[in-house]
Amino acid sequence: MAEYETVACVGDIPEGEGRAYTVNGRMIAVFNDQGEFRATDDLCPHMGAPLSDGYILEGAVVCPWHAWRFCMQDGGWTDNPALKIDVFDLKLDGEDIQVLVPEKDG
Ligand code: FES
Repeated sequence: MAEYETVACVGDIPEGEGRAYTVNGRMIAVFNDQGEFRATDDLCPHMGAPLSDGYILEGAVVCPWHAWRFCMQDGGWTDNPALKIDVFDLKLDGEDIQVLVPEKDG
């Protein structure tokens, strides 16, 4: 059965910003895009920057190091959507932000 873990409260993540949380051993970035919350991998597949330190532009997170952009809905790299980061289901329970717990790698 799908299991969700509370990672933060709604007020913990300012609009337009992200924060990183560890869920079942994975670093997950949670973003506040104009009051909509999204969860993606925190690790940029280019050179490993923390995407949670990036900023949001038109529904995509912009990597803080070299500005690669990833769609926060499907994880696709905007230059070539064949390259994807993982996105994670997320729900709100009152003020709690809950992320679907990912499978352990390996
Ligand atoms: S590390 Fe993210 S674009 Fe280079």
